[in-house]
Amino acid sequence: RSNSPTLARTMATVSSNQNSDNKRKLIVFDTTLRDGEQSPGVTLNTEEKIAIARELSKLGVDVIEAGFPQASPGDFQAVRRIAEEVGPMMEGREHIGSPTTICGLARCVEGDIRRAYEAVKAAPKHRIHTFLATSDIHLKHKLKISREDCIERAVKMVTLCKSLVGDVGDVEFSPEDAGRSDPEFLYEILGRVIEAGATTLNIPDTVGYRTPSQYGELIRKLRKNTPGSQDVIWSTHCHNDLGMATSNTLAGIENGATQVEVTVNGIGERAGNTSLEEVVMSVHTHRSVYPVYHTINTKMFVPISRMVSDMTGMVVQPNKPIVGRNAFLHQSGIHQDGVIKNPETYEIMNPADVGVTTSNISLGKLSGRNAVRQRLNELGYTGSSLSDDLLKIAFARFKEVADHKKTPVTDQDLHAIISESRSKM
Ligand code: KIV
Ligand code: ZN
Repeated sequence: RSNSPTLARTMATVSSNQNSDNKRKLIVFDTTLRDGEQSPGVTLNTEEKIAIARELSKLGVDVIEAGFPQASPGDFQAVRRIAEEVGPMMEGREHIGSPTTICGLARCVEGDIRRAYEAVKAAPKHRIHTFLATSDIHLKHKLKISREDCIERAVKMVTLCKSLVGDVGDVEFSPEDAGRSDPEFLYEILGRVIEAGATTLNIPDTVGYRTPSQYGELIRKLRKNTPGSQDVIWSTHCHNDLGMATSNTLAGIENGATQVEVTVNGIGERAGNTSLEEVVMSVHTHRSVYPVYHTINTKMFVPISRMVSDMTGMVVQPNKPIVGRNAFLHQSGIHQDGVIKNPETYEIMNPADVGVTTSNISLGKLSGRNAVRQRLNELGYTGSSLSDDLLKIAFARFKEVADHKKTPVTDQDLHAIISESRSKM
């Protein structure tokens, strides 16, 4: 709770990439509209994508990967409109001082790259993100090319990207399936694409295979052994197949990555991508652990989570950290009594910091008298309208009702319990 940042503190820290605590700014790269849309069964139309992109810009994300323009005319159109309409937006970003970068994905294929550039170029800050697989499994079975061919293609295509964006935009390169690629090969190919003009090197654990210590080690080694590594931004891109995407991303940050690729609610291919809200709140809550600071308006997490869930039809599991319905709800009487006395007893984050505005107490059969009294007080039953005798009868009735209900006891239920209890006095 004492960790809550004030906007003033944030404003003081964003003027350079390094703040007064020697922390580097965490670049939040949101790919809800690209990798997130790769969730089975999800398709967003252009208007929905623009609406989400607007909220992401206000949230303060640094880069929006708006889509894969070569994938379809609709995707191209959506990326182009986001570049035109959201690219220049400054609303909610005054403390950051610049608009968000609009990015389009492209395979290392000339047609993809030219199309991506056409789609993003209207944004004042734009990026082409190009990728090519580097693991032997992908080279042999999917691309059917040698490592030498892979380097040649990557260098040629990054050079093309750079020639298109010039000094206005920038280029990101991803060695797809880096998590299962030979690190020695990665040092070589990444060194060559840096020379060709890539300024962000993103390291995808495409199939969510790595553990946190392995992924952290990979980032550390790449930074140490890749020629030119000190002049570029290292980025994480983790998938959640083993439920380790957030931990892997945080391990990447501990080992020097300063960009994280994430999605709202962690949506994405298969088990999804790293969840934006989990990473940012981890950095936010553990300021002394991570060598980065963020400029995200965390109070928007719950509203934007609901919006993405509604538009994609992907339901957020109730116990999902940060944005799940139960994430800040206390059910047992002991916990409820604790948080009523002092929220810090069972809360490590202030619910208001992530946009939770409703009560943190879920009334059910485990609830104690204290919790019931507090809710009744909030509903207006105070002083003489809630005598000790009335509370005694109402609490007994509350327990009977709670025992028979499968869902929490609602305010409506409490009003009914009070009027019934009054008639028994
Ligand atoms: O998971 C992955 O490898 C990707 C790349 C296209 C960056 O999404
Ligand atoms: Zn991915």
